[in-house]
Amino acid sequence: MQIRTIRDRIDWLGAIDWDQRLFDALIPLPDGTSYNAYLVKGSEKVALLDTVDPAMVDLLLAQLERVPHIDYLVAHHGEQDHSGSIGVVLDRYPQATLLCTPRARTLLIEHLAIPEERIHTVADGETVSLGDRTLQFLHMPWVHWPETMGTYVPEERILFPCDLFGSHLATTDLYVTDEGRVYEAAKRYYAEIMMPFRRHIEKHLARLQDVAIDVIAPSHGPLYNRPAFILDAYRDWVSGPPKNEVVIPYISMHGSTRRMVTHLIDALAHRGVTSYQFDLAGTDIGKVAIALVDAATVVLATPTVHAGPHPEVLYAAYLANALRPKAEFASIIGSYGWGGKTVEILAGQIGNLKVEVLEPVLCLGLPKPETYAALDKLADAIAAKHNARGLA
Ligand code: FEO
Repeated sequence: MQIRTIRDRIDWLGAIDWDQRLFDALIPLPDGTSYNAYLVKGSEKVALLDTVDPAMVDLLLAQLERVPHIDYLVAHHGEQDHSGSIGVVLDRYPQATLLCTPRARTLLIEHLAIPEERIHTVADGETVSLGDRTLQFLHMPWVHWPETMGTYVPEERILFPCDLFGSHLATTDLYVTDEGRVYEAAKRYYAEIMMPFRRHIEKHLARLQDVAIDVIAPSHGPLYNRPAFILDAYRDWVSGPPKNEVVIPYISMHGSTRRMVTHLIDALAHRGVTSYQFDLAGTDIGKVAIALVDAATVVLATPTVHAGPHPEVLYAAYLANALRPKAEFASIIGSYGWGGKTVEILAGQIGNLKVEVLEPVLCLGLPKPETYAALDKLADAIAAKHNARGLA
């Protein structure tokens, strides 16, 4: 992809990674991603904001053939998908100074062996003049590491927030053209990358209310020329109440747990509760993460394997615990062969979730009439809790 113009003397550079299917060797990327860098030219000085994943540095270097001089390289974030090519770029522009937060300085030295003498740290709110354009640095910790910041260019009312507001989406569109498609990609991104840091993001959103923004230019996915689209979505995901929804990640080895899940889904639907089941044997775990953004209740469903939950369900519980969704209620259902400690083990995995645990339903072997009656009771309890919270 060639350099693309956003505004006069403000350009998109970077790489579209169409074929990447896993991020951080963990997160599914069904739609690929992009690594966005930006060039801001003032009347006196030039700044490059971020670089690209080192696997695609050749694309960036080819774009930089047309850029003879850089005064500043801004590192918003130490993670390698943006900072991994900083060393190569600094070698190419020996006069350039690397700007970052004090905390990023340590990370860039330790993770990327960036020479200390090339780094200059910037304070929160500090400005650097490029002549007729200004870079204002906004420290925004925990989006997505503790050292992160964004840059605001007041003359053009453009915000460069790095990971914040991004989407893992490979596209030839410079700006969002299909908001429905980007909404899902951005929500997946939020769920997997940002959700654990909701309380920090809440503060960043409050601060941004006072900033006049015409364009949001994140480091992944297309740019937003209607910023309210993504700002409103984030306000809902971060601070809105949970919805009248239940997420049921499950595994079934011989069909008993699946029958229980099917019954519970139906029982919840009849009580007006929207529910989603995910068979972890084949589910894109990102879909589970998306559903966790809004759900008021999580029900883990598992057979018993060697006296405990199935490892896939254990992983889902671990992931949910790490992502810290806003769920307020949880339960466990499943079938066992002869005994076990499934409930204790799973309950011990979700300590980060501030949830009220509703009565689990476990059965020996096949579900019996009394099992289905207990599942109906669980559906009653969930519906009642949601109603009492005013979610229905
Ligand atoms: Fe896109 Fe946290 O890196």
